[in-house]
Amino acid sequence: MNEVAFEIVTPGVLKIVPEVKGPFEIEFDGTKYFRFMDYFYIQKENLDELLPVEVSNLCRARAKYPSLISPVNKEVREIFERLAHKICPTSLLEIGAGIHPVFSKAAPEAMRYVLSDADSEVVKHHVNLKTDCYLFSEKHCQVPLEDNNFEMVIAVFVLHFPFHKSQLVEIYKRLKNTGIVIANVYRRSSTSRELLINEMRCAGFKIKRVSDPKKLCAEHEYWILGKQDAQIEFCASRLLELIS
Ligand SMILES: C[S@@+](CC[C@H](N)C(=O)[O-])C[C@H]1O[C@@H](n2cnc3c(N)ncnc32)[C@H](O)[C@@H]1O
Repeated sequence: MNEVAFEIVTPGVLKIVPEVKGPFEIEFDGTKYFRFMDYFYIQKENLDELLPVEVSNLCRARAKYPSLISPVNKEVREIFERLAHKICPTSLLEIGAGIHPVFSKAAPEAMRYVLSDADSEVVKHHVNLKTDCYLFSEKHCQVPLEDNNFEMVIAVFVLHFPFHKSQLVEIYKRLKNTGIVIANVYRRSSTSRELLINEMRCAGFKIKRVSDPKKLCAEHEYWILGKQDAQIEFCASRLLELIS
């Protein structure tokens, strides 16, 4: 490790040079940094404590180096894509789509596919490509669409970041009575998972946690949220067909 150096990629985010998995913790210019995704370093150990600007800086840094994104990311996105094909919603909202949404090519014609993200640059990117995409963050969380609209909502590699009460309330409002929300969760302590689950229940959701039998990431789970147990169980059984 004597040969390694660090470069600043975005404010507060470093990348190790050369691209080898670095130590868990380092010191740079007198400040402590913690590893994220093998090659990046940020000043907080717990991702669910990042401020919105810190989340954007980290995600923008990661997006600058597509070759450093783990194949697990693609694998999980493919699971979500296959799940959406099985569930066949007529409308699907993706939260935290980043620049690699789950349906990277065309979504099924019969499905209204809407993207959203907390980062205005991501939104701009999709809007420039003429894709339906809205800002969806703690402060700007109104999706300008009808209530009870979405049959499915997905969030892939988003829930390790702070997720806000206002966003949960908005998703509940936009979700059809028979709709489901599914997200994967990793890199959150068990206390922080419990706190988030509690907020989800306060927003009105019923929740089922499914541990990943494939263990694609450390303590990786899928959370299925909805308004009706039957829909949640249906989604869980379709998911288990894919991951067991
Ligand atoms: C790690 S990237 C994942 C992007 C994409 N889903 C994927 O799997 O490649 C996380 C994305 O979620 C967005 N994000 C983070 N926190 C969010 C939140 N609370 N609400 C909506 N989007 C959020 C970030 O801006 C970023 O684009």
